[in-house]
Amino acid sequence: MSGKPVCVGDFEQYAKRVLPKAVYDYYRSGADNQQTLADNVAAFSRLRLYPRMLRDVSVMDLSTSVFGQKISMPICVGATAMQCMAHVDGETATARACRSLGTGMMLSSWATSTIEEVAQAAPDGLHWLQLYIYKDREVTRSLVQRAERAGYKGIFVTVDTPLLGKRFDDVRNKFQLPPHLRYLPACCSGKSIFR
Ligand SMILES: Cc1cc2nc3c(=O)[nH]c(=O)nc-3n(C[C@H](O)[C@H](O)[C@H](O)COP(=O)(O)O)c2cc1C
Repeated sequence: MSGKPVCVGDFEQYAKRVLPKAVYDYYRSGADNQQTLADNVAAFSRLRLYPRMLRDVSVMDLSTSVFGQKISMPICVGATAMQCMAHVDGETATARACRSLGTGMMLSSWATSTIEEVAQAAPDGLHWLQLYIYKDREVTRSLVQRAERAGYKGIFVTVDTPLLGKRFDDVRNKFQLPPHLRYLPACCSGKSIFR
């Protein structure tokens, strides 16, 4: 790729070039033999847009609503952990981008920015919190209350992670959160979560 990235594939190549290998591998890879990852990519590439011709296109509007909140297009940012490994602004930059595009962002419970930092970065943005149900229910409760206080509009509970998948690249790379970062919403330690 030469010049600025213009599509998702370009960004993937760019990320591979500029990120430390362990970070790139974490963002890019899936669990075990990555069968579900491959299936997801294949399923997405089977989708086609259905063109409708000879319509009035003087006003084009992709807006819709999600849980009663209007968004500019049917695309939001899902929970993606540890964004400060890619850029010092991490999740706060994602929040600003989502706000400027008029869409919503789900903050990961394993984010490297706090619930409040994300709210402050995009005060009138649409934010949701992705939540794991922690054994210590007080941790869970406090996350929900902080999100409420910070104006988040919803909680998405992740129910498919009673155990982490075995991510071969992360095992090989002995992946762990770089020591200068913390899982800020849940205030877990920065220790490896893969061993
Ligand atoms: C780098 C990365 C980090 C993710 N972090 C989280 C997370 O912290 N919490 C969560 O519930 N899901 C997390 N996910 C899962 C995504 O939110 C999403 O459910 C999953 O990637 C499937 O959607 P997709 O096929 O569009 O990628 C993560 C996915 C990726 C690729």
